[in-house]
Amino acid sequence: MPGAAFHLRENQGALALHSGRHPHYGAVQIDWHSADLCRRIAAGRRQPLARALDLSNVGSRPPHIVDATAGLGRDAWVLAALGAHVTLLERTPAVAALLDNALQRARSDAANPTTQAIAGRITLHRADARDWLAAAAPGACDAIYLDPMYPEDGKSALPTKEMQLLRELTGGDPDAGGLLDAACRVAHRVAVKRPRRALPLAGRIADAIIPASRIRFDLYLNTSIRPCRV
Ligand SMILES: C[S@@+](CC[C@H](N)C(=O)[O-])C[C@H]1O[C@@H](n2cnc3c(N)ncnc32)[C@H](O)[C@@H]1O
Repeated sequence: MPGAAFHLRENQGALALHSGRHPHYGAVQIDWHSADLCRRIAAGRRQPLARALDLSNVGSRPPHIVDATAGLGRDAWVLAALGAHVTLLERTPAVAALLDNALQRARSDAANPTTQAIAGRITLHRADARDWLAAAAPGACDAIYLDPMYPEDGKSALPTKEMQLLRELTGGDPDAGGLLDAACRVAHRVAVKRPRRALPLAGRIADAIIPASRIRFDLYLNTSIRPCRV
């Protein structure tokens, strides 16, 4: 059963996920102050992720983005740091607990008002995105972001130990294809992160592609839903 060999442990207020099966892999924990994330935030609104979610003109009205596969919230943190309001959906209870703990720590970081402001733009729901999307009205948000686990094709570079643990814990998102249709019914714009050479999610050809270094963002535009921000 996915998750059976994992346990959460708290150290000085920070929650970490440990694997009983791979104790030498180290713990999975959320660090939104990492050098990598700081670099990504510094790259600004011209970076591929921000263009994929259309963060241009954030000043006039910040977009509301639903990150339907939240994971460790790194992409969402970058989007919120660049001005978006982000709703996180995460169905794996242990991962949702890590997110909840990280958000609480960020919100109460009185020494760092910027961190508090970013966290203030993020809302977390412990939910299966399929249920959330099924209940959402068309136009409920400006854009939806999907970053399901990459398919194991035997050709890609070995995932990091952290990603291997997450894959074991979550079961590898084998049902990710179903999210795409559901997302396109709700938002004018849906962006899907894929490995650069992978087939499109659910075999559905994208309306546009934004390439990045080892990945790409496939964009799906539902013209029957009015873009909220024009
Ligand atoms: C590859 S991770 C996302 C990484 C994330 N973009 C980040 O920056 O940290 C995929 C996550 O999506 C979650 N997920 C997959 N399908 C989901 C669904 N239907 N509803 C909610 N969460 C889902 C998995 O539990 C997993 O934590």
